[in-house]
Amino acid sequence: MDYLLANTPLESLETECLIVAVYADKQLSSEAHHLDKLTNHLITNIVERGDIKGKVADTLLISYLPHANIKRVLLVGLGHADKVSAKDYRKALTAAANALKATQITSAVCCLAENAVKDQNNTWKARQIIEAVDAVFYQFNECKSKPADNHSLTQFSLHAATEASEIEMGIAQGKAIAQGVALAKHVSDLPGNYCTPTYLAEQAIAIAKQHDKLNAHILEEADMQELGMGSLLSVSRGSRQAAKLITLEYKGAAKDLKPIVFVGKGLTFDAGGISLKPGAGMDEMKYDMCGSAAVLGALQAAAELQLPLNIVGIIPSSENLPDGAANKPGDIVTSMAGLTIEILNTDAEGRLLLCDALTYAKKYNPDVVIDMATLTGACLIALGRVPSGLLGNDDKLCNDLFNASETALDSVWRLPLWEEYQEQLKSNFADIANIGGRDAGTITAACFLSRFTEDYQWAHLDIAGTAWKTGDAKGATGRPVPLLVQYLLNRVNAA
Ligand code: BES
Ligand code: MN
Ligand code: ZN
Repeated sequence: MDYLLANTPLESLETECLIVAVYADKQLSSEAHHLDKLTNHLITNIVERGDIKGKVADTLLISYLPHANIKRVLLVGLGHADKVSAKDYRKALTAAANALKATQITSAVCCLAENAVKDQNNTWKARQIIEAVDAVFYQFNECKSKPADNHSLTQFSLHAATEASEIEMGIAQGKAIAQGVALAKHVSDLPGNYCTPTYLAEQAIAIAKQHDKLNAHILEEADMQELGMGSLLSVSRGSRQAAKLITLEYKGAAKDLKPIVFVGKGLTFDAGGISLKPGAGMDEMKYDMCGSAAVLGALQAAAELQLPLNIVGIIPSSENLPDGAANKPGDIVTSMAGLTIEILNTDAEGRLLLCDALTYAKKYNPDVVIDMATLTGACLIALGRVPSGLLGNDDKLCNDLFNASETALDSVWRLPLWEEYQEQLKSNFADIANIGGRDAGTITAACFLSRFTEDYQWAHLDIAGTAWKTGDAKGATGRPVPLLVQYLLNRVNAA
């Protein structure tokens, strides 16, 4: 999809479809009013009939207009004009995009960036419009012999009467975020027989090739052996796919500016290993690399926007399968940090990879480290599929992430990382156990990671409930790419 700016006044604009807002109680937005005047009060007449009430996310497509240049109009409800919340706005945008998707329209001009949203500026609105439209039009067709359904829209323009520069900035940011989200969704939706650790490494190399300031390095199993990553390598021993430790380095600022480091869990399939998972729904464990997908998407977006920051992405990638060489319950391995780990459940493998990746992160002398992982089923029990779990050892970093998540509409909710929980990880035979029992599974997983992150400011995002949708709408969400990019944008603004 091409996203463009349209700053032609409505009276001289040409489009197949103009998208304008109506408010609760049949109130026309100023753009709808403008169109009303150009069409001999057609809009007022239709709205007065009551076919659209103007509630949030109501839509009505009028597929013929008595106007030479504006062929159709899509009316979109925004609720009460003075009370449009960020979430209302996003809902309305999604509804509008779905209405467009059901038509044969190939290009549209959207006026909704000109309507007020509580506490949000024009840049935010433009960004949200592009993110919402792009999310609705995303399709995974790679493995179908012919595409599932063909929609026609190829060009989507944002109308700006005044202040075009703010909207233009939002368009650039929205495009970069939407492309990062689409990349993350695509590698996540790809099945495990396509998306292997080697495939992820190739993707990182391909993304780096497209941007001057982005470089990719791949560590092979022999390299990891040399670094002492006994914990990570214990997981890949049970797989015929070689593990990879992928790093992406984005240098957008002076050398001495400490980098922001993102670490993403990259299990391209998690069967549980010898502690085998039950069969029902196991296909969804192809999504156990969604953390790594978000790292790729966020780094690509940062490079696309040429952000004046230094950012490193680290992706430990493997499969977790049962096999004669696989980890067995009771096995004890030695991590790169030197801590020995008793593997009481081979299905708690994510932390076994992440702990070595988090130790490796120290070599970058990071400003902050943020890891994201589909780490625990317990996170779904605690928080459902609405926010990602947030835990960390630094209040400022956690607050910054929370604030970014509110802006990005990519929510997180913090859980405590109190030392009392560390008890649960005691082992009789090693320094630490890899599971902490049934209670507080998301917290004890984070407690495990915290033992490897004491030297820097660190936050952990458990995205087990948010990285993909299950059921009829099964598919990756691309979360938390919007949150990560918003965090980076906020860091640029704070500098
Ligand atoms: N990848 C899973 C977590 C997961 C499960 C995410 C279901 C989303 C949906 C992770 O590797 C895992 O298996 N965790 C175990 C940990 C347990 C053995 C302590 C879990 O959550 O059951
Ligand atoms: Mn597992
Ligand atoms: Zn897993």
